Amino acid sequence: MQTVGSIAHARAVFDVLPRPLGFVPTMGALHSGHVALVRAAREQCSALAASVFVNPLQFGVNEDLARYPRDLEGDKEKLAAAGVDVLFAPDQATMYPDRFSTYVDVGKLGSTYEGAVRPEHFRGVTTVVAKLLHIVQPDVLYLGQKDAQQTAVLRRMITDLEFPVRVAIVPTVREDDGLAMSSRNAYLNPEQRAAAPTLHRALNALLSAVVSGATKEEAIALARAELSPIATPDYFDLVDGATFEPLDAVRAPAFVIGAARFGSTRLLDNLYVS
Ligand code: PAJ
Repeated sequence: MQTVGSIAHARAVFDVLPRPLGFVPTMGALHSGHVALVRAAREQCSALAASVFVNPLQFGVNEDLARYPRDLEGDKEKLAAAGVDVLFAPDQATMYPDRFSTYVDVGKLGSTYEGAVRPEHFRGVTTVVAKLLHIVQPDVLYLGQKDAQQTAVLRRMITDLEFPVRVAIVPTVREDDGLAMSSRNAYLNPEQRAAAPTLHRALNALLSAVVSGATKEEAIALARAELSPIATPDYFDLVDGATFEPLDAVRAPAFVIGAARFGSTRLLDNLYVS
């Protein structure tokens, strides 16, 4: 696996890779969820690019940018073993040089749920992914269903701005107890880690309740009751699979979404209804 840091070098390398070229953008601290994206891309594409860049634009002022886990050497080993051909690992000055001031904003879709709790977050995600897509110019972009609203936001951007790339969504990879894998799980203390799978159980309770005829309000109450008492719920809802508009009853495609705080760590999860 070749690692490139500068944009000029990256362009020269990506330009001569065989097609179709798959691309897996990440913020590093890689776990089996990220590796599942790489494996899916490896099966479907002739060449494979990944990026590791902890994007400051998508962190709020009081969020965990400084303590976000970083392990570039470990990440390189995992990416190489999973079949990545080229890793783009730029530094902050490469991605955001002095006087950088252009942002991509998808509007309302980026301002609800995760966007309501983290007001600048999706603007940071769309801006960095737009820039990465221009640099890498892949045929297929691989995203995890784990971040369902992120997939909806990025699909919107790709459609609205005519990026010539197809999006492939890879199902959420979970621990044996149901907890969705996340780099942020490393922040949980043992008590919080033991309680964290109740977020997934809460989503299952919400889905089975609406499927068996409960109102959404009743189903959300059941979900909240399923969540560990040491957790603080942020939101639970049933939303349209593409627009993320709230739904009153199940109508595929949809997502059951939820987010909760375990101490200072926010975890999010979702179930896809196809
Ligand atoms: P990051 O959190 O590192 O995630 C990179 C990709 O891995 C995302 O598409 C995410 O949805 C996927 N992923 C994470 N956990 C997963 C799991 N348990 N199962 C399946 N896929 C999983 O998401 C980002 O980085 C950033 O916002 C990024 C898109 C790279 C832009 O900076």
